[in-house]
Formats: sequence, structure tokens, C-alpha cells
Amino acid sequence: MPRYLVCNADETEPGTFKDRYLMEFLPHLLIEGLLIASYALGSHSTYIYIRGEYAWIPDILEEAIAEAKQNGWLGKNIQGTGFDLEIYVQRGGGAYICGEETALIESLEGKRGNPRIKPPFPAVKGLWQCPTVVNNVETLAAVVPIINIGGEEYAKIGIGKSTGTKLISACGNIKKPGVYEIDMTISVEEFIYSDEYCGGIPKGRRLKACIPGGSSVPILPANLLLKTAKGEARMMTYESLNDGGFATGSMMGSGGFVVLDEDQCVVRNTYTLARFYHHESCGQCSPCREGTGWMKRVLHNIEYGKGKMSDIDLLWDIQRKIEGNTICPLGDAAAWPVAAAIRHFRDEFEWHVKNPNAAQQRNFGIAHYADPLPVAAAAV
Ligand SMILES: Cc1cc2nc3c(=O)[nH]c(=O)nc-3n(C[C@H](O)[C@H](O)[C@H](O)COP(=O)(O)O)c2cc1C
Ligand code: SF4
Repeated sequence: MPRYLVCNADETEPGTFKDRYLMEFLPHLLIEGLLIASYALGSHSTYIYIRGEYAWIPDILEEAIAEAKQNGWLGKNIQGTGFDLEIYVQRGGGAYICGEETALIESLEGKRGNPRIKPPFPAVKGLWQCPTVVNNVETLAAVVPIINIGGEEYAKIGIGKSTGTKLISACGNIKKPGVYEIDMTISVEEFIYSDEYCGGIPKGRRLKACIPGGSSVPILPANLLLKTAKGEARMMTYESLNDGGFATGSMMGSGGFVVLDEDQCVVRNTYTLARFYHHESCGQCSPCREGTGWMKRVLHNIEYGKGKMSDIDLLWDIQRKIEGNTICPLGDAAAWPVAAAIRHFRDEFEWHVKNPNAAQQRNFGIAHYADPLPVAAAAV
């Protein structure tokens, strides 16, 4: 039975653009990683499934694949080893859900990208019901330095269980947005304020909050972002970002680091994300299909001055009913941002209900926070 390796280059998580950087500027690094991983797995047909909106990148990948082939690194009998490998680039149609590995496989098979019920997992029954490994672009590109310096040396980079390096795509209200490779020994504060990384916040504004790992992970207010609930400096590691669980922590997630300054509105931000998840739900399970729609509508009401105080508790109830009750984790991904926004910024939701006109004016660009938002305590 054939085995397949699939490279997940769908990268549609809002705030995330590190895979784009790797594919655009270092395509041969990815091809080398795919070659090594395919050899280890015994995959002779390997696929790169790339986000449809990355319209210009398949040409870059195809060119690099052709160069590798010309030099005997792809095709038949690679470098005389007897190993054959073809790499195919498949464009997605622009659906976030096709980044979920089983939806991706369905899409690759030419079907609608609906997630499958697991088990069976792709490693047992994946592409065309054959054993399939699906890994992210960054994961597969990292195979190259690991092989070059050896696993033991590579694991010496970083701290604790956060070994190796991590790509962070930083954006939002920072002076230097971009993709940074970090060795996971720096603090969140250093990452935001040092000139080597984000360079601080423009126009002297204060830090209000951050979504540290792509739109699906919990937003953290500045005080909990820079210090854990134990009062320790929050580090850019898997463990430290998750310290306190979702009560006071968040996650590294996709490495999409979105910074919000004091002028940003958490209600507005949460509504925008809720719209995204509702739009991207594949609709197979009712808690996700209906729940994302309800969250979007309730948030719309609060944001546009038609909300009631009881809507905040209603929102909390809806997100709880979605989490853990769906076929794939998109449901959780839609619920967590809403839960965290209410958990940490409830006063801002209440402010919107109490000040419907001020909120509405701001949204139409007429007034910029007629009343100061009640988040000063959280801003640093
Ligand atoms: C809704 C949803 C969207 C996802 N989108 C992506 C994506 O764009 N890229 C990606 O690598 N993984 C995405 N994933 C995770 C994949 O299912 C899978 O876990 C990942 O490709 C495994 O790669 P890794 O173990 O190398 O990180 C998504 C998961 C969900 C639930
Ligand atoms: S959780 Fe949402 S996206 Fe995932 S299978 Fe269910 S309806 Fe589709």
C-alpha cells in the first residue's frame, strides 16, 4: 500500500504568515525537508497543499522543484540511491477549514473540504485511504537543521521543553511587523519592545492586549501577557505562554503574534473574529454551524449599540456549548477567543452596552472613544 507525505501550507489562521515567508524566500529548504521526510516515510508521491490566496507562491515552488529535479534531487533514482520521489503542488480554494488535516485530505482527493470523523487518523487511513502523514511547512523545513547538526545539538537550543527555534509572525500595533526566528529564551516583553524584534508600540501608545498564537488562541491583557499569574516574566516558550491554562494564560499556537494598543477595541476585534469563524465553518455539526452564527449576531448587537447586559452571559453560554462538542477543533477555535475576551475584558463589553452611541460613532469613524474605555488597569 502506498504511503503519502502531505505538507500543510494552507496557512489561513489570521495573524499567521510564517509559512509564506519560508516558501517565498527559502523554497529549497522546504524541498530538502520534504525529501528527507519522504525518504524516512517511504513516500514516493508527496504533496504541498497551499492556500489559494498565496497565488504567486506555487510558481516559486514549481520552479524550485524543477531545479531540484534538474540536479538529480527529485524524480527517479535520486542521487543513485534507487529512491524515487515526485513533489506535487496543489492549490486550495481559499477555505480556512482545508487547513484541518482531514479536510485537507478530502480537498486533495477532489472533494468538498469537510473534516472526517477521527479515528481513523490519517496515519492509518489518510489520502485515498492510505497511511498519510500531514505536517506543517515550518515543521518540515526544520528537518534540515535537525539533520545537519543532529537532534541532540538542536535540542540544546531553547529552554525547558521548548527546544529548537520557532518562527513568529508579528503584526498589529508594533513598529516592526515581520517574521522572526526566536530561540525561545526571550521574554514576551523583550520580544515586543526590543529593537531586535517588534521595536515597541508606535506613537508612544500603551500595550493593551495580545493574541500570541493566531486568532484561535485566547487573547491576554497586557498585565497577564508580560507576567504570569505567579508574577514571573512570561517567556516566549510553549510552557510559559500556556502557564495558568486558559484562566490566565494562552498558547503559542501558530506563532501568529497580534499586538493591540490601547486604542483598539476588544469587542470589535472579537466580533471580527466571530464573523470569520462563522464564515469558515463547514456546517457539518450544529454546535459549530449554529453557535458561530449566534456568537456573530450577539457580538454584532453589542458592537453596534443594540446589546443588552444579558447578552454577555448569553455569549458565554453559547461558546461553552460549542467547545468540545464538534467533529473538528474549528468549533473550539471559534469559542476560545470569545471566552477569553469576556473573561479578561468583561468591563469593555459592559461599557459598550452602557454607551451604545459612543460605540457606534467610533465604529463609523466619527468619534474616537468619546469616553475612556475601562481597561486602563490592564494596559501597560
Ligand atoms: C480549522 C483548522 C485549521 C487548521 N489550519 C492549519 C493550517 O493552515 N496549517 C497547518 O499547518 N495546520 C493547520 N491546522 C492543524 C492541522 O490539522 C495539523 O494538525 C497540522 O498540519 C499538523 O502539522 P504539525 O504537527 O507539523 O504542526 C488546522 C487545524 C484546524 C482545526
Ligand atoms: S467543527 Fe465546524 S468546521 Fe469542524 S466539522 Fe464541525 S461544522 Fe465543520
